[in-house]
Amino acid sequence: MTLPPVWELLIARPRADEIPWDLLLEADPSRDRVEGYLDPALTRIAKHGDEVVGVYVLERRSDTCFELMNIAVRESCRGQGLGRWLLGHALGLAESKGARSVVVGTGNSSLDNLGFYQRAGFRIVGVIPNFFVDNYDEPIVEDGIVCRDMVRLAFEVTPE
Ligand SMILES: CC(C)(COP(=O)(O)OP(=O)(O)OC[C@H]1O[C@@H](n2cnc3c(N)ncnc32)[C@H](O)[C@@H]1OP(=O)(O)O)[C@@H](O)C(=O)NCCC(=O)NCCS
Repeated sequence: MTLPPVWELLIARPRADEIPWDLLLEADPSRDRVEGYLDPALTRIAKHGDEVVGVYVLERRSDTCFELMNIAVRESCRGQGLGRWLLGHALGLAESKGARSVVVGTGNSSLDNLGFYQRAGFRIVGVIPNFFVDNYDEPIVEDGIVCRDMVRLAFEVTPE
């Protein structure tokens, strides 16, 4: 689907019936985990007319740090800049709530996502070995790579 320019899309806090579970589960296949961190106050959806075409979820880690727990764009709408726009929106929302850094974790096998975050200015700051083996029931394999470890990346909203 061809989207209008991203700045013409509505970015909104979702009503309960607008939570895009299909999108959230594409970024994180564990419904239990998503339910654990989903806070509508820190969730935003992108709407094209009545259709939800993107979503992100933040979680507060400390007074000055938020974690991006989930970000997803509807498959038919990818590659048009909406993911980048939502990522920037998430950084702005976090900064408005006092963040100086925003962290995110992705799988060692998620090569596209590692590129997506680094192109946006995130830096790799660590690895949690075996995170996905220990926390997910089903094995995850992407591009022939078993997803075992969580790569941690951070964006300094206000570099000191
Ligand atoms: C990651 C995701 C949100 C990106 O959304 P998107 O709307 O396609 O991204 P954009 O069009 O804004 O692209 C952003 C940048 O990433 C690049 N990019 C996007 N998808 C890419 C892909 N599949 N392969 C390589 N580069 C890609 C773009 O070239 C762009 O780079 P640029 O800004 O330097 O030009 C989307 O692919 C998605 O929903 N994936 C499934 C859910 C998921 O895995 N979420 C992340 C969990 S960690």
